[in-house]
This record gives sequence, structure tokens and C-alpha cells, in this order.
Amino acid sequence: MKAKFIVFEGPDRSGKSTQANLLSDYLSQREADVLLTREPGGDDVAERIRRLVLDPAHKVSPMAELLLYEASRAQHTQQKIIPALEAGKTVICERYTMSSCAYQGYGRGIDMDIINKLNDIATLNLKPDLTLVLLMSDKYFTERGEYLFSDRLEREDEAFRHKMRKGYREIAAKTANAVIIDADKPVAEIHKTVLRELSNYAILDGE
Ligand SMILES: Nc1ncnc2c1ncn2[C@@H]1O[C@H](COP(=O)(O)OP(=O)(O)OP(=O)(O)O)[C@@H](O)[C@H]1O
Ligand SMILES: [Mg+2]
Repeated sequence: MKAKFIVFEGPDRSGKSTQANLLSDYLSQREADVLLTREPGGDDVAERIRRLVLDPAHKVSPMAELLLYEASRAQHTQQKIIPALEAGKTVICERYTMSSCAYQGYGRGIDMDIINKLNDIATLNLKPDLTLVLLMSDKYFTERGEYLFSDRLEREDEAFRHKMRKGYREIAAKTANAVIIDADKPVAEIHKTVLRELSNYAILDGE
């Protein structure tokens, strides 16, 4: 298996971490050299920026929010993802450029051309080989996991979450190498679908 860049996307609590971990374990067992990461990815600078954005004590304007996320993304992509790919690792990342299109574009109404441009600048144009977009019905939002109002973005209401799902659906349809996965399904079934998509995209040999 060649070094590939695989991204999990989707609204809050849609199962990204669950599936990213399962895929990482699966690939590691097949002796792939895997880096499992998520924005902001443990990078100190990127983490601090992210903490600033998510702190409920701050009122962050939509454009400031976008620029802070892009700064964090630039740091994480350039310090962590690109070096790993260059070292031959397969990178699995939770959240990437599509999150800004959904949250700052559809959610906050910032012009998508601006977001796309900033995404390209922040990532040095690095595009995923496959983006797996997990979309679940809203009824699972409160059922899954602890309903902790942990940060500012999670406090958004149902209408906002509806906008997010619509956004992700429309963005995924326009994005190369992106697929939507029904995240209402059980964990094991979604994992199988993920593996099937990796085969479809020639990331896994079909076995
Ligand atoms: N397919 C599923 N069916 C039922 N519960 C699930 C499923 N996938 C994940 N969960 C549960 O839902 C919760 C959220 O899952 P997870 O943390 O993987 O989502 P996430 O997309 O990474 O969330 P966040 O956006 O907060 O990082 C967890 O408690 C997890 O165990
Ligand atoms: Mg997660």
C-alpha cells in the first residue's frame, strides 16, 4: 500500500474518531505505516490557536474564526501531514479543508471562493486521496456520546446542524475523491463501507 492521505469529515459526533481509529488499526495490522491525526493535531501552535477559537469566553467574528482555523491548519498540515507523507506514511486525518467550507461557508456565510483560496494557501494545495464524509440524522446527535456542551461550536442549534449536513452533502458532491457515508448505520457496517471505498479508490488492494 502506497502512502495515501485519507480524511474523515462530517458534523460533530458523526463518528469520525470511531472510524478513523478502526481504519488506523486495520491498516496498522496490515503493516502499513500509519499516522492518525486530527486538526489541530497535537502541534502546540495549532492547538493554542484552536483553543482560542473554541473558548466560549471569546466572541470571535466569522472571518477571524476562519483565519484562525486556517492558521491552525497551515501549521498542522505543513509541520505534520506533509512530512509524514514524504516519509512514506499513510495519513488518516479527522477534519480538514471541507470542515471550513461547511462551518465557515454554509454555517457562517463566508464566500466559498475565499475559503477555497485560504484552504489552498494553508495546505500548500495538498488534497486528500479520499475524503470520507460521515453524515447522520439529527436524532443521533443527542443520543450518541455524552451530551456535553463542551465548546462554543457544539452549542449551535438544530437549524445550524441541518445547515451543516446540507453543506457537507453539497460540498462533497463537488469535491474530487469525496464520498458520503450513511453514519446512521452501526459502527461495524460503516467500517466495512470505509474499507470498500478504499478499495474503490485503489488505496487498498481488493481482497
Ligand atoms: N455508528 C455509530 N452508531 C452508534 N454510536 C456511534 C456510532 N459511531 C460513533 N458512535 C458513538 O457516538 C459518539 C461520537 O462518536 P465519535 O467521537 O467517533 O464522533 P466524532 O465525529 O469524532 O465526534 P467529534 O466531532 O465530537 O470529534 C461516541 O460516543 C461513539 O462511541
Ligand atoms: Mg472526533
